[in-house]
Amino acid sequence: MDWKPNRHSHLTIQEQIVDWIKSRIEQGDWSVGTKIPTQRQLAMEFNVNRSTVQLAIDELKADGFLESKMGSGVYVANNSWNALLNRSQPNWQQHIESSIHKPNYHTIQLINEYEQMDQIIRLGTGELSPELLPTKQIEQSLKKISLDSKEIGYSSPQGSGKLRRILCNYLKKRGIQTNPENILIVSGALQALQLIAVGLLEEGSIVFQELPSYLNSVHPFQSSGMQMISISRDKHLADTLRTLKRNRQSLFYCVPTLHNPTGYNWSIEERKYFYNVCKELNIPIIEDDVYHELLFESPPPAIKSFDISGQVLYIGSVSKTLSPGLRIGWVVAPTPVIRRLADIKMQTDYGSSAFSQEIVAHGISSGLYEKHLIKLRKQLKTRASFVEEILEQRFKKIATWKKSEGGFYIWLRFHKPVVNKALFLKLIKKNVLINPGYIYETRDLHHIRLSYAYASFEELNEGLNILLELIQQ
Ligand SMILES: Cc1ncc(COP(=O)(O)O)c(C=O)c1O
Repeated sequence: MDWKPNRHSHLTIQEQIVDWIKSRIEQGDWSVGTKIPTQRQLAMEFNVNRSTVQLAIDELKADGFLESKMGSGVYVANNSWNALLNRSQPNWQQHIESSIHKPNYHTIQLINEYEQMDQIIRLGTGELSPELLPTKQIEQSLKKISLDSKEIGYSSPQGSGKLRRILCNYLKKRGIQTNPENILIVSGALQALQLIAVGLLEEGSIVFQELPSYLNSVHPFQSSGMQMISISRDKHLADTLRTLKRNRQSLFYCVPTLHNPTGYNWSIEERKYFYNVCKELNIPIIEDDVYHELLFESPPPAIKSFDISGQVLYIGSVSKTLSPGLRIGWVVAPTPVIRRLADIKMQTDYGSSAFSQEIVAHGISSGLYEKHLIKLRKQLKTRASFVEEILEQRFKKIATWKKSEGGFYIWLRFHKPVVNKALFLKLIKKNVLINPGYIYETRDLHHIRLSYAYASFEELNEGLNILLELIQQ
């Protein structure tokens, strides 16, 4: 041992001894179980006071590097390597737990994990089955798209001008008159919600929503410090909102067409009443309209279509109709809002994928998108009828549901509160994945969001059988 502490170091003698012993352990010179020299020997080697060595050893014992064995001496401890690892890594768990963004519910984390497994039957997935995706069409359109080198650079903050012009035209069919300046292309509707959460609301603002709500399964507003208030749209809506809002900033998030998770639709009267109440109280509306093209009958007009005062922030996306992997959505809103959201988007990701924007622009402008939608609605309707038939035959005694009007979901209500985490986990063991109602409304133990859009017919049949079996048990 030819090491000695440096008396001119900025570290104390004790600190240097601690570091030196740790380096012995780290380099494997003193492996686990090694008996270290006595305090007297070390003090002599280092040419320091024995009390200094004793303090250093006490510190190493407290940190788990060394341990005393009664009457035998001091040894390198069993968990000295853990102690070393912890020392060399920041405490990530503490970082994670104290960070701003909320974690997903454990159930949703499991859903995300199990959705990747081939053998799993996905009874709840909010995504089109691979066989319903227009993969061939997209492949062919890729051959037809001629890219201008300008188009594959960073796009303008609001997204491709071409796509925004095409969308203006497309949205006319939804009754929405707008300009390219009033459109922002986003990386999916979810990003639109995130941008609104961080760009338009002060901390502590209120976000009104209906229950159950898609917003309870993702946390863009909750993580930005907004207060979520769930209310029902009855005849007291105006009074309820007035009382709750007081002087605070607020907005109302809604999915009036093919609501997620219930699949319900608001009538035109309900839409107008709701719009007028929010306008009177000066509460901006977020109209999330990502499912409207999947309504089996023609959809009622968007709330945005009667918005003359810039009250409505309208959100669309191709995730539910064309491909969620393209990550293309849009927001239609007054110009200052669009500029603000575009500014944050540029700070977040420098714009959505240029290729994806070109694919969507080509799909819509060539009419291929609408052709695909016609076919898709038929396929989804067949799937919905198939599942409804099974429910009619096997679930009638234990559950109720409303006939699907379009989209992906049937909001299946069991008479008894059986849809708990235990059921969810038991189903996973049987390779069946469901979206339980409690991820959309915490206290709900009656519902399952049944999706007929993803699993194959055989899987739907088998998965529903397993579900029935377990619930009857
Ligand atoms: C109502 C609603 N809004 C937004 C989204 C997110 O869509 P995107 O994939 O476009 O981000 C979803 C997806 O499930 C949804 O159901």
